[in-house]
Amino acid sequence: MNRRPLIAGNWKMYLSVAESVRLAQAVAATSATCPDLDVMVAPAFTSLAKVCEAVGNTSLKVAAQNVAWAKEGAFTGEIAPPMLTDLGVRLAIVGHSERRQIFGESDAMINRRLLGALAGGLQPVFCVGETLEEREADRTFSVLEHQVRQGLQGVTKEEMPQVVLAYEPVWAIGTGKTATKEQAQEAHAFLRRLLAETYEKNIAEDVRILYGGSVKPDNIDSLMAQPDIDGALVGGAALKAESFERIIRFQ
Ligand code: PGA
Repeated sequence: MNRRPLIAGNWKMYLSVAESVRLAQAVAATSATCPDLDVMVAPAFTSLAKVCEAVGNTSLKVAAQNVAWAKEGAFTGEIAPPMLTDLGVRLAIVGHSERRQIFGESDAMINRRLLGALAGGLQPVFCVGETLEEREADRTFSVLEHQVRQGLQGVTKEEMPQVVLAYEPVWAIGTGKTATKEQAQEAHAFLRRLLAETYEKNIAEDVRILYGGSVKPDNIDSLMAQPDIDGALVGGAALKAESFERIIRFQ
């Protein structure tokens, strides 16, 4: 097992260009002192160019919050993979629950985005997670299985090492309600077993699975101590340099 931790910040629809550049520079300075893990930030599209310029020669990785599947075309409002790689963007979040729930993105659409990212040289950060209603109806595992199987359709075992999976229970996002470390570990172990079944055990062992949903300085340490949690996808607490720094410096 050889999984390098990844601490990722999703800035959502927050921060001006100047604020994004300042925060990215602060995060890059922290990242430079942590050679044993990867750090990523996902600014709004409008800030990507300036953020890439500001942190281009540091270890901080810049991600987009979504990506189109086509290289170009009549897709009003979308951003193509080459437009992102052109700036120095390395990863793209796909299937975030806000895209699924607010903007109606289907599993099929998310699968196309994920394949488009891979084809375009971007590492997808592929999000899955159940709603509260699904958890309470004991459907967590079947929902996760469906999302993973649909989302990864057509992804070969050679491509799989490029994929980062993120388990984000919808009921924990932006609610202040974190999954307990046991709930998170249980879901991560399930996802890894599913990857082992779908691909191969050694491939499943190498895929990084991030936890997301109200990750904060005071819960990161216990989450990261779980054997199948390889990092975090952080929303609110990634918007402040100090709290994100503490998360990057998990113990
Ligand atoms: P949160 O968001 O940390 O604010 O709960 C996580 C996410 O949506 O990725």
